[in-house]
Amino acid sequence: MLVSRLQGTALELLSVCFCLLTLTAIVFGHEQGSGDVTVVVKEDSDAVLPCSLSTKENIESYVFDWIKVAQKDGKKKEVFFYDAGIHYNNGRSGQSEEFKGRVFHFPVELQYGNASIIIRKTKVTDSGDYTCVFPRLQTRQTFHIKLVVELIFKDRSRDISGAAPKPVLTIVAVTNFGVQLQCDVRDASPEPKVEWQDSDANSLPAENPQFTERGGNYSVTLNVTKAGCFHCVVKQEEIRHMSEAEICVSEKLFEGMSCKVNVTGGLVGGMILGALTVAIAYGFALWIKTRCSNGAGKQSEENPSEVPLNLQPTALQSS
Ligand SMILES: *[C@@H]1O[C@H](CO)[C@@H](O)[C@H](O)[C@H]1NC(C)=O
Ligand SMILES: *[C@@H]1O[C@H](CO)[C@@H](O)[C@H](O)[C@H]1NC(C)=O
Ligand SMILES: *[C@@H]1O[C@H](CO)[C@@H](O)[C@H](O)[C@H]1NC(C)=O
Repeated sequence: MLVSRLQGTALELLSVCFCLLTLTAIVFGHEQGSGDVTVVVKEDSDAVLPCSLSTKENIESYVFDWIKVAQKDGKKKEVFFYDAGIHYNNGRSGQSEEFKGRVFHFPVELQYGNASIIIRKTKVTDSGDYTCVFPRLQTRQTFHIKLVVELIFKDRSRDISGAAPKPVLTIVAVTNFGVQLQCDVRDASPEPKVEWQDSDANSLPAENPQFTERGGNYSVTLNVTKAGCFHCVVKQEEIRHMSEAEICVSEKLFEGMSCKVNVTGGLVGGMILGALTVAIAYGFALWIKTRCSNGAGKQSEENPSEVPLNLQPTALQSS
C-alpha cells in the first residue's frame, strides 16, 4: 500500500519534471531562435530565407536543417539539409522533390554563423512556414520564417484552362470616322477584362464599347483616328492571367481618308445549312467605293487587293 503510493508520487514527480523540462526546452528553443520573420516575394523571383546564429560562430562543421512545416494538405517537406559540408546539392539524398535544384545555401557566409538559403524562381506553392534548425547545438535552436509568394499577372494559358489565349486582332473597317479595330478573345472563363492600349500602355476607353459575349468569346472594338500600334490586353483577375497582342495601323489607311475614300464595313449574317443544324456565321463584307478627285482613285478601282486590310473580306466589290 505505502510502497505503491510512494511509487505513484515518484511517477508524478517524474512526469512533472519531464513536463517542466520539455516546456523549458520549447520556450528556450523558441527564444534562442530570434524573432519570427516574414519574407514576401513576387512569384518567379528568388527568396532569401534568413537564418543566422547570434553568436556568429563558424558553422561550416555543423548540422542545420531547413524544413517546410506541414501545410493543411500534406506533411512536412525537406528543403535543405547541411551536415559539415555535405548537403542536398552535392550528394545527400532525402530532399523533397519540389525543392530539387532550386535551393542553395551561401557557403562563404557559414563562417559567420549564417545558414540562410535562397529559393530560386519561387512558386505560389512555396508559400508557407519554414523552420531552420540547429539540432546538435547545446541548446537546440529553431528559427521560424514565413514565406509569402505573391501572384503576378502573367500568361497562364498553358497552365490553366479558361485562361484566355492570345487575343486575335483585326482591322474590321475603314470609315470616315477612322479605322475600326477588333479584339477577339476566345474561351475565357472567368470573365476577362479586355482593354485597348496605345503603344505607351495608356488605356484607350472606347466611348461606346461594343462588348459582346458568346460562351466565353468576347469582342471589343476600337476606332482609331491616327496611325500607330495598339495593344489589346486581356486580364482575368481571379487567376492572375494576362495575355496581349499588338496590331499596327499604317499611315496608308488614313491617306485614303483625305481623298474621301468611302469604305463601309458591314456585318452580314449568313446562313450555313448543315444536315441537322442551322448555324449562323458571320462574315464581313466590304464595299469599297472610291471617289478621289485628285486621281488616286485608280488605286482601289483597278486593284482592290491593295487596300491594306488584315482581313480577308468575304465579298469585295467595287462600283
Ligand atoms: C546571410 O547571408 C545572406 C546571403 O548573402 C545575406 O543576405 C544576409 O544578410 C546574411 N545575414 C546576416 C545576418 O549577415
Ligand atoms: C466607330 O465607328 C463606327 C463607324 O464605322 C461607328 O458606327 C461607331 O459608333 C464608332 N464607335 C465609337 C466607339 O466611336
Ligand atoms: C468561340 O470561338 C471559337 C474560335 O473562334 C469557336 O471555335 C467557338 O465555337 C466559339 N464559341 C462560341 C460559343 O461561340
